[in-house]
Amino acid sequence: MMSEPVAYHEYDVIVIGAGGAGLRAAIEAARTGAKTAIITKSLLGKAHTVMAEGGCAAALQNADPRDGWKVHFHDTMKGSKWLADWQMAEHHAKEAPDRVRELEQWGAVFDRTPKNLINQRNFGGHTFPRLAHVGDATGLEIIRTLQERGIHEGIDIFMEYTVRHLLKEGDRVTGCVAYTRVEGEFHAFSAKSVVLATGGITRCWSVCSGSWEYTGDGHALAMWAGAELRDMEFVQFHPTGMVWPPSVRGILVTEGVRGEGGRLTNSEGKRFMFDYVPEMFAGDHADTIEEADQWVEEVVAGKLATVRRPPELLTRDVVAKAINAEVKAGRGSPHGGAFLNIAHRGEEAILKKLPSMHHQFKELAGVDISKEPMEVGPTAHYVMGGVRVNAETQESTVPGLFACGEVASGLHGANRLGGNSLSDLIVFGKRAGEHAAKRAKDLAQPAIDEAQVQAAIAEMLAPLQREGENPGGIYDAMRDMMQAKVGIIRTKSELEEAIEELKAFKDRAMACSSGTSRKYNSGWHQALDLINMADVSMAAALAAITREESRGGHTRDDFPTPEDDHWGKTLNIIWMEDGEVKIRQEPVVEMRADLKAALTEVKTMIKERAAEAGGGQ
Ligand code: FUM
Repeated sequence: MMSEPVAYHEYDVIVIGAGGAGLRAAIEAARTGAKTAIITKSLLGKAHTVMAEGGCAAALQNADPRDGWKVHFHDTMKGSKWLADWQMAEHHAKEAPDRVRELEQWGAVFDRTPKNLINQRNFGGHTFPRLAHVGDATGLEIIRTLQERGIHEGIDIFMEYTVRHLLKEGDRVTGCVAYTRVEGEFHAFSAKSVVLATGGITRCWSVCSGSWEYTGDGHALAMWAGAELRDMEFVQFHPTGMVWPPSVRGILVTEGVRGEGGRLTNSEGKRFMFDYVPEMFAGDHADTIEEADQWVEEVVAGKLATVRRPPELLTRDVVAKAINAEVKAGRGSPHGGAFLNIAHRGEEAILKKLPSMHHQFKELAGVDISKEPMEVGPTAHYVMGGVRVNAETQESTVPGLFACGEVASGLHGANRLGGNSLSDLIVFGKRAGEHAAKRAKDLAQPAIDEAQVQAAIAEMLAPLQREGENPGGIYDAMRDMMQAKVGIIRTKSELEEAIEELKAFKDRAMACSSGTSRKYNSGWHQALDLINMADVSMAAALAAITREESRGGHTRDDFPTPEDDHWGKTLNIIWMEDGEVKIRQEPVVEMRADLKAALTEVKTMIKERAAEAGGGQ
């Protein structure tokens, strides 16, 4: 067979993905003098980072001086249902404030307090108002800032290139192979370090907040290259996606709405969240409507809150399951969700604090949120699971391969707190870029192995060279199946079915045909995406059937409660061998004594505060 023409490139550091994590990693690598490139399958500015609308969590202490890194560390660990990597949670809580101030120095225009400090808003699971924000378009502003900074650092950018293969020499990663989405040309990159920053996997579910890019590329590339993943059963269903009209189902409705005092009600007009406070949060949240409303009044007036937060600000896993339960009990909104009302805040405040939400509902649903409630329901938004990384360096279990942002795992355990993703990607993006560049310093430029390149190209070309079914039908059917059987509530029998069906979907994906053209052929992209989607969906399903308990973003109808003795101290580790997804368990590493002491200190403070506020704990 004739070999395909290939363009060759050499870099110290290649970053795959141009969201917040990828940009921050590339900036850091380039700043240290490493020759750096970003490869992105999409366009700059198009990343899921923009879907972190409500803010970036960092204990800046601007809105409440009682906050600090220890409280943020505590909240992250508790929100994760104690499965977060405590070393990552420590780095994150300590470093996020500096990373946010750095963004401000680079030109991010955050909303201000009357004293001209960065303003911070409330979000679920955060003890104090902690989210630095830009109205309800924070991710967009962060991306804009990082893009501008990146251009000044001289980073090369390859847009609309999809990476399908990581090159290896022995155990280590030495580069990657990509094709251009517009022309169908092939490129091979030699790199001393490769950073995965490809985001998540939520396109594997039919109701999701992510756009077409979210097909698990980085998760799959890592598994195919021999790296380990963890926590793949933990998928975050954000409680509030749009539910109507059908064409916009899943689009995010920021948690900022609830942070600004939004109330959730069912078809009977009841504020049902008061009925869903789990044991671990008992006493932390208001138990009367009067108390909840007083909290909003105090927050709006810019005072330190003296009473407990409304139960609408419980963690996302809790709120999403509560909405799901109300719908199942026949108390849902007309289109199968709950009502979210912010109209009581008045038009002026809504236009100031939530302008994008106002616009979004007006344009997409014909609803004026300053006068009428929204209809909302759970939407697949984020995967806590991903590439297993070293907490200091973000290096995966394969030398030379780093990961940061959503494609990496560890920080969020079983459930991520809203706002902790923007801070995650700036804290660990920086760390990944720094360590990828450090590693590159001591290495010679790797040679590109032509045989690996041509084998990767042959795999990419296969859907163009065979007869078979169209990938579009497989794509829709697989996503519907994941929604039905590996969704917000899971059972053993449905997961068993899902695993069998995923094997069949993978076979169909490997045999499908996308026509023959390499140019502007979206069917070809989809045929290739299906292969990663089948493998990462299998990783999620296998982890879900293995974890026989309910915790955070993983709910088993047949094991409805957390099981602390074993699963509360155990991680699922996933990898691929001979084309098959494998799983084993590992115990969680015991937390350092000083961090345990920090948790005790914060727990005592929260109890005292709840008691003062009438919580009676
Ligand atoms: O609701 C939101 O604005 C999303 C934020 C996040 O996922 O961190």
